[in-house]
Amino acid sequence: IMDRHKMIEFKQHGDDRGKLVVVEGMKDVPFDIKRIFYIYGSDSKVVRGQHANRRSEFVLINVCGSSKVRIRDGNRDEVVELDKPHTGIYIPKMVWKDMYDFSEDSILLVLASECYDNSEYIRNFDEYIKEVIVE
Ligand code: TYD
Repeated sequence: IMDRHKMIEFKQHGDDRGKLVVVEGMKDVPFDIKRIFYIYGSDSKVVRGQHANRRSEFVLINVCGSSKVRIRDGNRDEVVELDKPHTGIYIPKMVWKDMYDFSEDSILLVLASECYDNSEYIRNFDEYIKEVIVE
């Protein structure tokens, strides 16, 4: 497990038929992929996410269009733009994330290290800060 978020550049397998990106668990991303979901139909005004996860690690890829993700962890506060189908961001557990500025055509693919468990989500920022400072 890494404790720092980082951009991941995936290899593009391209030829005259087009391009293909492969994302394999424990190879192209630093965890086994147990769940995927994708977010679309969000507009430039909404803010999604707004939570931290006690156990899940994620990789976010805008396979179409663009969005921004703001990442906070008690020390750091960074904004990353996602706008390429071959670039993802790895987000470790216990990081607060906000996704916003979705383009109309945005499809944000999310790969997760854990199956969905609502009880591992921290949805209150003050509660999150208390937990992350104690850690
Ligand atoms: P939500 O956590 O609000 O989405 P995001 O954080 O990406 O903005 O999830 C929206 C709804 O989908 C909510 O009712 C919970 C449900 N959901 C699942 O059932 N399983 C999942 O893996 C995820 C991510 C969400």
